[in-house]
Amino acid sequence: MPSSDVGVAGPSRARIEERTLRTDRWWLAPLTTFVVFSAFVVYATWRAFSGAHYYASPYLSPFYSPCLGDCVEGASDFGQPFAWFPFSAALIILIFPLGFRMTCYYYRKAYYRAFWLSPPACGVAEPHLYYSGESRLPLILNNLHRYFWYAAVLVGCVLTFDVVLAFRNADHEWGHMGLGTLLMLVNVIYIWLYTLSCHSCRHAVGGRLRHFSKHPVRYKLWTWVSRLNVKHARYAWVSLFSVALVDLYIYLLATGRIEDLRFF
Ligand code: FES
Repeated sequence: MPSSDVGVAGPSRARIEERTLRTDRWWLAPLTTFVVFSAFVVYATWRAFSGAHYYASPYLSPFYSPCLGDCVEGASDFGQPFAWFPFSAALIILIFPLGFRMTCYYYRKAYYRAFWLSPPACGVAEPHLYYSGESRLPLILNNLHRYFWYAAVLVGCVLTFDVVLAFRNADHEWGHMGLGTLLMLVNVIYIWLYTLSCHSCRHAVGGRLRHFSKHPVRYKLWTWVSRLNVKHARYAWVSLFSVALVDLYIYLLATGRIEDLRFF
């Protein structure tokens, strides 16, 4: 080792001129994330701002649930306390699931790599000269994740209630099921898997304890959440697709482009 590479505290990093020595297709994952996230953001922005075609009785789009603004008849199961709100009702509620996902530990890794190239992949140098971490605005807001998790639990409860209501027909008679009910059911399962596999959930049920042996119930919950946590990235992706798919299905129903497939 050249003497110039040995500092006071020990050897420094090897000097490598190339941006990376990796020869595999390391760019594929961040590129895929970039394309898919961008497509979702475009779609979700269009749907959230449209303020229309979000309810096809008995189905309510998850982008608009709970519908607290000046919503169409039948869509507001929790009243309309924000009926005065002049814009799309989705904007009242979307801040919570959006904030939850934007501050998610997994999504942070994904969008730091895909959008900020910070770094784009393991073993690939980033283009930025300085790194301030999550200690300044706006990234310091990522520390709010645990609070968004509490809000996400409430949103999950509301979406579960929507699935129960979806076991009705268009005239609100109980005991019916259609393809929309099935899609909403699958979606809410993945929403819960994503929410309960969250790192903040793991901390909420098992964190700040000195001895697990004195808290057997919390220890049990912590082991369950830890098992789910391993698949958190997968749940993050699948729930993103499922929520968009349910919204698209309801949009197509509400605009009269398709008819709901009724099972019974
Ligand atoms: Fe991903 Fe909490 S870490 S939702």
